[in-house]
Amino acid sequence: MMKIQTTSDVDVRVQPLETRDLDDVLAIERASFAAPWNRVMFDSELLRNPFGRLYGALFDHPTGPGSRLLGYVCYWVVFDELRLMNLAVHPDHRRQGIARRLIRYALGDGLDQGTTRALLEVRASNTAARRFYHALGFQQYGRRTAYYTNPNEDAILMQLTDWNSEDF
Ligand SMILES: CC(C)(COP(=O)(O)OP(=O)(O)OC[C@H]1O[C@@H](n2cnc3c(N)ncnc32)[C@H](O)[C@@H]1OP(=O)(O)O)[C@@H](O)C(=O)NCCC(=O)NCCS
Repeated sequence: MMKIQTTSDVDVRVQPLETRDLDDVLAIERASFAAPWNRVMFDSELLRNPFGRLYGALFDHPTGPGSRLLGYVCYWVVFDELRLMNLAVHPDHRRQGIARRLIRYALGDGLDQGTTRALLEVRASNTAARRFYHALGFQQYGRRTAYYTNPNEDAILMQLTDWNSEDF
């Protein structure tokens, strides 16, 4: 059974993002990936993809103005599959449990929608992300040769099939 640690979680709330949040999303995206998604890609997830979900982790400053986006997750709910399409945390706020919160949210939503399998692809060289997913219980089930460009690279295919509401 997957067990997600909660001890180091920073106090963030997870909520759906909108078009007006995309400047903040794109700043994190560009700081996180060699081949980042652009605004049109995020817009189409928000506006044109009936399967798509985009959620952010927001930190409310106790004294300062407003809230700050620290990370986001994009996923698709396609019948019994939860497909993780994008995940990033602001470089200054990594290793604080924020991605774990986001994935935990997505998996909980997936359970509510009846998904039984969570799937993702990750660059072979992205050891941080591979370790992150592994720490959450995802396991490698395949590899796609030369799947990514810029730079050319294999994709590692990972999945999680064993989770339930007690894990959250
Ligand atoms: C991968 C990423 C989303 C992780 O976000 P994060 O908020 O730092 O992750 P968390 O703090 O929730 O980490 C949870 C656990 O995952 C593992 N983990 C996370 N980052 C790790 C790293 N760099 N090295 C080793 N293990 C790591 C650890 O077990 C960690 O628990 P711990 O901190 O108590 O040891 C973040 O590094 C990132 O945005 N990377 C760039 C974008 C990216 O690669 N996205 C994934 C594309 S598939």
